Amino acid sequence: MRPLLFALAATGLALAAGCTPATEAPVSVPVEVPDAAAPAPAPAPAPAGPVIDAAALGIPMDEASIADGREIAVHNCSNCHGLDQAASLRADAPPLRYILSVYPAASLAEDFRAGIHVGHEDMPGFVFGDLGMDVLLSYLVSIQEAPPPE
Ligand code: HEC
Repeated sequence: MRPLLFALAATGLALAAGCTPATEAPVSVPVEVPDAAAPAPAPAPAPAGPVIDAAALGIPMDEASIADGREIAVHNCSNCHGLDQAASLRADAPPLRYILSVYPAASLAEDFRAGIHVGHEDMPGFVFGDLGMDVLLSYLVSIQEAPPPE
């Protein structure tokens, strides 16, 4: 029997057409393994927002600060600019996630701190104090995306 099996193996290709499914199965396995490994790490590339050096600006980037800043934005900005990744509610106000592409973070921090009026005449003047300004920026930095090409 054994010599016959070896002979069959040696002529396997010629016999393949007549093989039972059980002998075909091992052939397909090595084909599928590389396929499973191929689509490895392909994270949907979120459009990269403006590069903001939070450390240089002295902006805290911990979760609690970002959450505090988001709270400020909910009450003071979202009515016009939307929130997070949402569209703005006013067509003439840029969505918050693009705001630091329109207006650099360093200028925004300085101007808000100095009480300089930023933006539209409808946009209220804000006085957040340094801490409020910092966390508002933490939040804004955390949600930035690149604006769509015009
Ligand atoms: C009452 C509506 C309203 C509110 C509330 C509001 N904004 Fe605006 N903001 C606008 C409008 C409208 C513009 C567009 C101004 C323009 O293009 O001339 C604007 C523009 C801006 C700009 C860009 C300024 C520029 O010169 O291009 C920044 C930055 C900004 N807003 C930040 C904020 C932040 C941060 C908050 C919350 C703290 C806020 N805004 C709240 C209406 C508002």
